[in-house]
Amino acid sequence: MEKKSVPFEKTVFVCTNVREGKAACANPGAGGDEICRALKEAVKEAGLKSKIRVARSGCLDRCAEGPNLFVYPSGEWYSKVAPEDVPALVKKLSDRS
Ligand code: FES
Repeated sequence: MEKKSVPFEKTVFVCTNVREGKAACANPGAGGDEICRALKEAVKEAGLKSKIRVARSGCLDRCAEGPNLFVYPSGEWYSKVAPEDVPALVKKLSDRS
């Protein structure tokens, strides 16, 4: 095992969990997967790819409040995220990069 520093200034974990019969961030129509893809693309377009990593996450245990995402290491948490929130999210992420 090699211990290393985190290679990104920020990592955004976007819940893309899907679950039949119960609320989940990326169930059909919920938007989690679309948000993750849009956020990845927006970070890339903003030239922040080397600083901000957008990663898919499994269930974050706040399923009924989803789609959810959180930012490491700041600990910011966003619930009920919609695809149209992506530009504002990228601005918030880049403001403090
Ligand atoms: S499915 Fe996203 S928080 Fe549980």
